[in-house]
Order: sequence, then structure tokens, then C-alpha cells
Amino acid sequence: MLSGFFHRQRWMLLPSSRSGSSRPLIAFLVIAPVLVYLFFVFAVPQILRFRFRTDLGWYDLGWYGFGPSKNYVSFGYESPRPEILEWDPECDPSFVFLAPRGDSIAYPGPMILDAQGELVWMKHNWEITQDFKVQQYQGQNYLIYWEGDEIEGRGQGSWYMLDDSYTQRFQITPVGNFDGDLHEFQITKDDTALVTIYDILPADLTPVGGPALGWIYDGLFQEIDIATGELIFEWRASDHVPLNSTFKTFVGNGNDREAAFDYFHINSVDKDHEGNYIVSARHTHSITCIHRDTGAIIWTLGGKLNDFTLNSPETSFSWQHDARWHGNNTLTLFDNAASSNIDPTAVSRGMTIELDIPGRTATLRAAYYHPQVMEAVSQGSMQILPNGNVFIGWGHSAAFTEFRPNGTLLCNVHFGASAWFTFGRVVSYRTLKGSWVGHPRTVPDAEVEGRHVYVSWNGATEVVMWRLEVWDGKDLREMTFEPRGVFEKTGFETEIEIPDDVHDEYFRLVALDWEGNELGISGVIQRESSGSDPYATGRLVLVICGLLLCGCLLAGLYCAIRRRLSRRAGYRAMKDDEDGPPDANDRQEYHRLLPR
Ligand SMILES: *[C@@H]1O[C@H](CO)[C@@H](O)[C@H](O)[C@H]1NC(C)=O
Ligand SMILES: *[C@@H]1O[C@H](CO)[C@@H](O)[C@H](O)[C@H]1NC(C)=O
Ligand SMILES: *[C@@H]1O[C@H](CO)[C@@H](O)[C@H](O)[C@H]1NC(C)=O
Repeated sequence: MLSGFFHRQRWMLLPSSRSGSSRPLIAFLVIAPVLVYLFFVFAVPQILRFRFRTDLGWYDLGWYGFGPSKNYVSFGYESPRPEILEWDPECDPSFVFLAPRGDSIAYPGPMILDAQGELVWMKHNWEITQDFKVQQYQGQNYLIYWEGDEIEGRGQGSWYMLDDSYTQRFQITPVGNFDGDLHEFQITKDDTALVTIYDILPADLTPVGGPALGWIYDGLFQEIDIATGELIFEWRASDHVPLNSTFKTFVGNGNDREAAFDYFHINSVDKDHEGNYIVSARHTHSITCIHRDTGAIIWTLGGKLNDFTLNSPETSFSWQHDARWHGNNTLTLFDNAASSNIDPTAVSRGMTIELDIPGRTATLRAAYYHPQVMEAVSQGSMQILPNGNVFIGWGHSAAFTEFRPNGTLLCNVHFGASAWFTFGRVVSYRTLKGSWVGHPRTVPDAEVEGRHVYVSWNGATEVVMWRLEVWDGKDLREMTFEPRGVFEKTGFETEIEIPDDVHDEYFRLVALDWEGNELGISGVIQRESSGSDPYATGRLVLVICGLLLCGCLLAGLYCAIRRRLSRRAGYRAMKDDEDGPPDANDRQEYHRLLPR
């Protein structure tokens, strides 16, 4: 119906083509400015976010994608394929803990990588995972993280603790009618949990230019006894920190409960050596020391309520994350320096600040910069490692870097293309290092492909070698196996070429530690007997169908062309006849012969 209509339209336009030639020009003159406008409004800001540098390699330019990934034969998930840009043997050899997420991450969740960037363990969480790390509880190491939904930068979820067999031992929820927030989960030396909460409250927003009857996100933290779930301490920012100390501009949000004004934005909680709390609030650019019993503010560093004299302008920070207290009145934090891409000159860094608390002076001891001048508009972490090195996770920018205490760069790894970091397609809220020994309760995964067997064991940190064992051919019910070789584990997944002298049907792989102890045994697998490719028949059928289809298409095309040529010849023959003009039927034929 429609195609017939267009057919006729085209036919009617054809004879008057001379008068219609100005129409495309008019259309162009109308559409071109619109396109130019749309290009500048929508495309140019995106293009400007592309951070080109002449020192970028293919990986950083995005040749392999925004977040290059690796897949496995024996394991059903993908993991990031990091790019090691700088490497030094002085770097801490322990594992990296991160929770990659973003549009370019197929399987977000908590993840452990080894110092070479190889996957050690990952768990695919459907919900968002943040703040993944290893912490001690009652003398044992636990993997801990937050999981839940994210709504406008705050979380609605719980905190989880897995033991060394990756079994969930604790799920912690806030005390009271609150959702657990994604920004902090820290276990103290007293085996308590420090956690954050965003609570929506009615508030007078006139100090920030908002409505008198508005709404805020209040920043809370709780200290919870992990064993009993009992509340030990709770603190609420709005009781102590005035609204006008925020740096967040009021842009309409705050008028209703669903879009409350996030004036404080609590994002880390730590304890000092006296048991007072150290709280970082991104939107007030402040680190606040809170009395462990009364909740009163002892001092504030940074922001509008700053109590300290700074030794230099470089000692000030903004939009920061992950404030940690160390001995000797030393504070470390991740200074984002920006909360959006509006200011392209802002540079994120890690900072070590020494505080003279009685004298109220703050001295910048060290700052740690990424060699590519990073601007992490959100998230980020800074950790002092046991060897004194400094480890920075660049948050919104998919990178982590290790420095000497004096700021010399040692190791630098990207797990996304850095030219596109401003798009945040791959991020990890925090990236931390730690030691971890995992004994999964699963069995190793093995898969055969041709003459190769692929074996992996998610989370098994102690495997050093794989032993190939073949069935001795005796009892199929009570199978016994004979060893046929030991192969070094070469990464998350080890590819083993089945030796030529192995002709047996069934075999399995045994995981061994460095002393040769058996840690686990894969299920029995069967080698693909040569010549009987299970897909071969299917492939042959597909090829034959394809060939038949091609043949039919060619034959059809040939027939169509032939018919058309013979008609054209017939029409010419008719025109050569001087008998008179073609009748209506002939004209119809003529229309159809016009080029389309
Ligand atoms: C905030 O408001 C109080 C009074 O309500 C005022 O004393 C104080 O100076 C204000 N602070 C800032 C940073 O504007
Ligand atoms: C504090 O400083 C002293 C002397 O500089 C040093 O020996 C000690 O290890 C430091 N303590 C901490 C916890 O950093
Ligand atoms: C940092 O320390 C290393 C060795 O400890 C030294 O080689 C390097 O020169 C130092 N760098 C700076 C900037 O002081």
C-alpha cells in the first residue's frame, strides 16, 4: 500500500525535475543550521570530554573498547583485562581488591586481581557492589563489601562478610528504620562495624536559597557490634553541621522528598587512636573529628568551618573521599578536586597531611599524582601499605597506582581506556590492596577443546600446579586414575595441551599447592575423540543450505535480468515500428522501465 504510494509519487515528480531542483537546497539551508546546532549542543561537549594525549597507547585510546575484558573457556564470566603501564619490583606483591562497574562492565561485582592483573576471584552480583576489601574480624580475614541499589549517589542495601571459603557469614543492616549506604563499611579493632546512612529529613533550606519547607539527605554513621547487631554509637550531621557549610549549589532539588538536597554527603568514617571518629563529607569539603561519647565536633579540617592554618594553598582539598587516620596525627585522603567535568584544570591526587592539633596547623607532607593528570570527578581511595608505599584507586577513573612514600611512581595499571575516563564507563568506588588466602568450597572447573584442556578454580589462591590424571580403564563405577603429568598454573585459567601419549577417554585435573598437597579435584571430563566433532554434521548441513540459497538467488537474479532485457528489446522493436504511439498498456510498460 505504502510502497505503491511512494512509487506513484516518484513517478509524478520525475517529469518536473527541473523546478524541483531548488527544493533540496532549501531543505539543506533549513536542516544544516539545525544539525550544526545539535552537533554543538550534544556532540561537542562529548568530544571535549575525550582526553587525548600524545603518550596514549592503543589500550588507552580505546582500541580494545572502553573496558577491555578477558573471557575464559572453563569459567563463564568475563573479567577486566588490565594494562600494566608501569611496573617495579618494589611494589607490594599482595592482591588488588576492586568492584568494577559501569556500562562497559559485563559482570559487575567484587573482584580480586593478583599483582600481575590476573583474576584471582570474582562474584557476579546483579545489584551494585561497592567498597570491596579484606578486613579482620575476630582475628580472621573476611572479604567485605556493600551490595544494593544506588539511587542518586546514595545506597539502599546491606553490608556482607564472606569467610575464606567465600561463604557469607554476616549480613549487616543499620539499626533502626534505615537503608545501608554504599559509602563506608569498615571493621574496627574492637570488632565493630562503622557504616554510613543517608536519611531523608524535612529541613529549612532558606540558608542555601531553597524552600523553607524542603528536604535534605542527612549524613549518619553508626558503629554496630557485628556479633550482636547492637548499636554502639550513632551520629547525625544535621545536629552539628549547619546547612550553609555546604559547597553543593542548590539547583531546585530539595523541594520534595524524592529529590532531597544532599548538603553533607558523608563518605568515610574512621577512628583515631583515642577512639574519636574521623568523618569525611564530600559536599562540605571537610574532615571532622567527632567526640567518641558526646558526638560533639572536636575539630574540622577544610571547608567553611576549617579550624586549621594550612601551611600552603596546596594543603586544601575539595570533593574528597576516603579520609584515614594514621599514627602520629597523620591523615590521608583522596582529593578529587572536582565534582564534574566543568573545570578541566582540576587535578585529583592522594594527600598525606600532618596535623598539629593543639596548634591547629595542617602541613601537607606528600601528594601523589597520576602521570596522566587524572580528574576523578567522584569516588577514589588512598591506602598506606604495610611496606610504606602508597596505593591510590582513582575511583571514577579506572586506574590504580602505587607510589613510594616520597611520591615516586612505581606501578601503574589501567582497567579502562584512559582517553574515555570522563565518561565513567568503567569505575570502582575504591581499589585497595591486601593479603588473602582463599579455599573455595567449589571444585575446579575444567573444559576440553580439541587437544587442549582449560582449567581454573575461582578463588583458589594456593594452587601452584595442576596434575593431569587419566582413568585406568578398569571400573567405570569406582573410577581410579593414573597421573600423566604436572603442569604449572599459568594464571586464572591454565591451558594444558593433552600429551600425545594420552589416548584414554576420561580424565580429570587435580589442584596442587607448592608442597604438592591435593587441594581439589575437577569433575571427570571426556576428551573429544578425534574425527567425531559433534558439530560437524550441523556445520555440513548449514554449508549445504547456504550453497543452495546462493544458487537459488543467482538463478532468480539471472531470470529477472533476462526477462527485463527481453522486454526492453521488445519495446524497442515496437518503437521502431512506425505504426503509431504506444497504447495505454505499452505506456504502463514504459513507466516500469524507467530507472528507479
Ligand atoms: C551560616 O549561617 C550562620 C547563621 O545562621 C552564620 O552565622 C554563618 O556565618 C553562616 N556561615 C556561612 C559559611 O555562611
Ligand atoms: C610515628 O613516628 C615515629 C618517629 O618518627 C615512628 O617511629 C613511628 O613508627 C610512627 N608511628 C606511626 C604509627 O606511624
Ligand atoms: C624517592 O626515594 C627514592 C629511593 O628511596 C629515590 O631514589 C628518589 O630520588 C626519591 N625521589 C624524590 C623525588 O625524592
